[in-house]
Amino acid sequence: MGGMNGETLMRRILDHGSRADPYPLYAELRGTPVCRQEDGSYAVSTYHEVLALLHDPRLTSTNAEQEAADGGKLPPSILGMDPPEHDRVRSLLMRQFGPPHTPSLVKDMRGDLETTVNKLIDAFPEGGEADLVDAFAYPFPVTVICRLLGVPPEDEPRFRGWADKLVASIDPRPGEDPAVRLRQGAETRQELALYLNDLVEKGAGGSGDGMLFRLAGDHDAEGGPLSRLELLVASVLLLIAGHETTVNLITNGALTLLRRPEQWERLRREPEIAPRLIEELLRFEPPVQMIPRRGALADIEIGDVTIPAGSTVALVLASGNRDPKRFADPDTFDPDRPDIEHLGFGSGIHVCFGAPLARLEAQVALTELVRRLDGPRLLQDPPPYRSSAVLRGPRHLPVGFDRVLV
Ligand code: HEM
Repeated sequence: MGGMNGETLMRRILDHGSRADPYPLYAELRGTPVCRQEDGSYAVSTYHEVLALLHDPRLTSTNAEQEAADGGKLPPSILGMDPPEHDRVRSLLMRQFGPPHTPSLVKDMRGDLETTVNKLIDAFPEGGEADLVDAFAYPFPVTVICRLLGVPPEDEPRFRGWADKLVASIDPRPGEDPAVRLRQGAETRQELALYLNDLVEKGAGGSGDGMLFRLAGDHDAEGGPLSRLELLVASVLLLIAGHETTVNLITNGALTLLRRPEQWERLRREPEIAPRLIEELLRFEPPVQMIPRRGALADIEIGDVTIPAGSTVALVLASGNRDPKRFADPDTFDPDRPDIEHLGFGSGIHVCFGAPLARLEAQVALTELVRRLDGPRLLQDPPPYRSSAVLRGPRHLPVGFDRVLV
């Protein structure tokens, strides 16, 4: 294995034509667990190898090309940092996000999340048709993350444009000049950072609340406070990470349930299965399909291959999640699986700390949707997909229904 076929597989996976169902291509890719690509990079696609590399300090998350595109104007976010810098900023951010310093943040949000979701469902158009992305899955997490950070609601619509441009900038495209794409991403991050700087300035005048302002004033924390620039970069990351991924989790969830009416019905009858169902969804249709670039700092022997120092490595989380060596019957959506330890939130030092929030948002969204939408039908299968292969999800999800229950 690993001949011509393996070398062109990533190219086919990145191609938009594969977006609705990349899973057969991932299955082919797993034929060579660590597969050298035509451009000299490596794609890792099997569960145990992906997991091992997520914990391997010989892979760096820093990205010199990205930093060059940023032109020194904005430093990298924690996603693009290694220890010890990474750990200092990450622990300052995490203080605001959960235990031990903010233990009840997410738990306390449930009521508010339910209200937000139900307002969106109340507004579904008469006539029994809605786009679940535009009317539901997109506005919900955007509202939540903006509120959490302290971004005024009237500014929310501006984020869609910024977020779309940023997502477009992370996707590798075969045959492209990455510098152009990375520079566009850098310009968008700078615009967003300027907007946030303005907010922090205003908040410092006394009117602000929300995490943005708490972070700016966190003088007691060890290693703190964040510099202004660090704060802005982190907030850009939180805003974008807090939107793009959760939108796709909710949309992928609605699609998965609409394709399996018995599962939709079951969640309606047994809302208490929501946590397990969301976990299985994160395995089955993970919103972050791959970590597209880490860099080998040394020769790394893995899966009968030596990845040479200096190589770029893609860790294909979504493929690891379907690895038959790890999960029995991996292509079946089964919330009753005994052990759903998926790679959907990554693993190791960069593991997602927004996971508790994302899980709760998806649980609330899907539970309320199946409770209130009567006689749902998928109007287009497969739905149209967004361009990104990394942050993958439907662009629209048109559904029909008989009526909206109260
Ligand atoms: C379904 C929703 C989400 C998914 C699937 C997801 C997935 C991931 C993954 C795979 C990583 C690891 C990336 C890497 O190792 O390079 C990550 C990191 C991160 N996520 Fe999430 N995420 C989600 C929601 C959120 C939310 C709601 C927030 C914040 C409000 C968030 C904030 C972050 C941050 C700040 C990091 C970087 C951590 C670090 O570099 O140390 N995520 N996420």
